[in-house]
Amino acid sequence: MSQETKTNSGSNEPKSRVKKTGGVPSTGHSWDGIEELTNQLPRWWVWAFYLTAIFTVVYWLFYPAWPIGSTFTKGVPGLNSITYTATQVDGTQVEKTTHWNMRSKFMVEMNELHAAQKQWFDKVAATPFDEIAQDAELMQFVTSAGKTLFSDNCAPCHQAGGQGVIGFSPNLTDDHWQYGSSYAQIQDVIVHGRQGYMPPFKEIISDEEITQAANYVLSLSGEPHDAASAELGAKVFQSDTASCYACHGTDAKGKEGLGSANLTDKIWLWANIPEIENADEKLKAVKNIIAGGLNRGVMPAWEDRLKPDQIKLLTVYVHQGLGGGK
Ligand code: HEC
Ligand code: HEC
Repeated sequence: MSQETKTNSGSNEPKSRVKKTGGVPSTGHSWDGIEELTNQLPRWWVWAFYLTAIFTVVYWLFYPAWPIGSTFTKGVPGLNSITYTATQVDGTQVEKTTHWNMRSKFMVEMNELHAAQKQWFDKVAATPFDEIAQDAELMQFVTSAGKTLFSDNCAPCHQAGGQGVIGFSPNLTDDHWQYGSSYAQIQDVIVHGRQGYMPPFKEIISDEEITQAANYVLSLSGEPHDAASAELGAKVFQSDTASCYACHGTDAKGKEGLGSANLTDKIWLWANIPEIENADEKLKAVKNIIAGGLNRGVMPAWEDRLKPDQIKLLTVYVHQGLGGGK
């Protein structure tokens, strides 16, 4: 290209016009010493430009393009229509034909995906639980589809891996099951939901009795406790005033039908007792649970939100230790 002007005098008049332009005539336009020349556009560029203009007109004919009032041009009918099966609010399916748009294209792709998945879901629905677990190929589908269903519906509370959050939602990957560990029991929890209830005891028994019961509960899972107080606590536990035994069982191992916790294992849902270092704080945390009761664990019912075959698949997914975690 052209050479730099040596002087930087601020003058608009370049030193040598011909030298700068390489022989191509100037249009006479000049800005800050930069000349506009009369070079022709490259031929390929001009053709590409015409082609894009032609493409635009074709595109307008085929696809939705121009806004008119509250609607828009939808393209020449028949040239671009797209047909898909849509499920209506009442569950009936209808064939729909519409002009090309991203939404209907998405519907077509989703329908294809669902058709491919349907044969697998049908197989899950038709196979007994323990046979599903034996079928490696079917389990592969359960694991991948289960992961998606779980992260869409369950992970907000139980976390992506199902490990739960102490004080909020139970861990589904351990061997501890508040409501039972059989396929049927897990399925029933998912279908109908659960809300464990324990009454507040602060008005039913004295603060001293709450301390004793708390010491007894701590002793059951090998936590630091006052042995004399715990001995009295055992009596409170089995008494008809407190009636802890009625829900937790005389052995304190919990009842699956009520979802009352097993108090003899080291798994705590509502206070992270093993992680609390100070023995006084442990006691205080257990006393708070007994005094205040529990009514916060809400496991929603899914019968109206998921299809039976999806719930069955999730049951296997959860039972099998969340995709092979066990
Ligand atoms: C709004 C939060 C929330 C969502 C969403 C949720 N859960 Fe739960 N889930 C809970 C709580 C809280 C409990 C414990 C209920 C109790 O303590 O009574 C629970 C309990 C359970 C249990 C019983 C555990 C046991 O130890 O017996 C299973 C199984 C379970 N959930 C599976 C699922 C599945 C599968 C999904 C998704 C379809 C799901 N949950 C979605 C909060 C949730
Ligand atoms: C009406 C039934 C009922 C009675 C009576 C009852 N509980 Fe409970 N308790 C439950 C249920 C249900 C849960 C689990 C709640 C949940 O997870 O949502 C529970 C949970 C607990 C927990 C928490 C366990 C954990 O893992 O975090 C403690 C501690 C406890 N109970 C102690 C007692 C003591 C001590 C008494 C007697 C003073 C008592 N309970 C009486 C039903 C009862």
